[in-house]
Amino acid sequence: MKLFSGGSSQVLATKVASFLNKKLSPIEVHVFPDGERRIRIDERVVDEHAVVIQSANTPVDTNYMELFFLVDALKRSGAETVTAVVPYFGYQRQDHVFREGEAVSLEVIIRILEEVGVDRLVSFDMHSIKIPELFHIPVSHLSALPLFATQIKGIMNPSCVLVSPDMGGIARIKKLSELLDDMPYAAIEKDRDLESGAISSTSFGEGSVKGKKIAFMVDDMISSGKTIVAAASVLEKNGISDIYVFATHAVFSEEAHVVLQNSKVKKVFVTDSVYVAPEKGFKKLEIISIAKTIGQELQQLATSH
Ligand code: R5P
Repeated sequence: MKLFSGGSSQVLATKVASFLNKKLSPIEVHVFPDGERRIRIDERVVDEHAVVIQSANTPVDTNYMELFFLVDALKRSGAETVTAVVPYFGYQRQDHVFREGEAVSLEVIIRILEEVGVDRLVSFDMHSIKIPELFHIPVSHLSALPLFATQIKGIMNPSCVLVSPDMGGIARIKKLSELLDDMPYAAIEKDRDLESGAISSTSFGEGSVKGKKIAFMVDDMISSGKTIVAAASVLEKNGISDIYVFATHAVFSEEAHVVLQNSKVKKVFVTDSVYVAPEKGFKKLEIISIAKTIGQELQQLATSH
């Protein structure tokens, strides 16, 4: 197995390589003055199983283009299979037409990946459990929930409740509840204005937090941080004193780091599916690595080749 990393996942890919006792194979990336990229792999891959690790976070289009070119370079150079590990799969929230006239961007990305020659995709906590069904190649849909459960076990007591900040996350917290001896859960009703992006959260769509003091709020991603802040305010109004946030993907757009640090939440746990640059870090943030989970999956896949 040969391991390659695109520019967005160097830190994570280095950890995966070290777990597997391997070195990352070198690639050359040249950026022309007009912004176009020329990608070249600097290693023999004939008949090899190649793995490319590249998250599709900001700048999402650049990171995707780099991934497409890397896969193309590997296929042209004779790699037998290419596995794309895209821990955070950009455009996944655009998985259907919300308003007439829209493109289904997620499907476009999937078509390109399949066309350039990806043989298998590995990704984490996708926005909906149905997304893997949109692919025509096998998908390993991994999850950070077991890692979150381990963390929660160190804090939990009888006054705890799991909370999803929106109804779309109900399957996620049900799964986590199973990993935590059936911890009770609730889900908040969230409304997002599709034009302005404004968020309003008011009440519970399922379950309640009555009599509970500590909430573990779980989401797939944090982008602007507005969903978390709106949900935290509902929890506070309902008697929750301590809020811990767990989100797989630290997308952290706009001023999310400031919004979260200044919010009522006690701590924010994320994974390294998206690299958090030092300037996006904040005191309440804790990062849990998914490198071992990826490494174990790659070991498992290697035995099936
Ligand atoms: C949406 O349904 C997702 O699960 C997240 O709740 C959302 O994308 C987070 O976005 P933001 O941080 O901008 O509110």
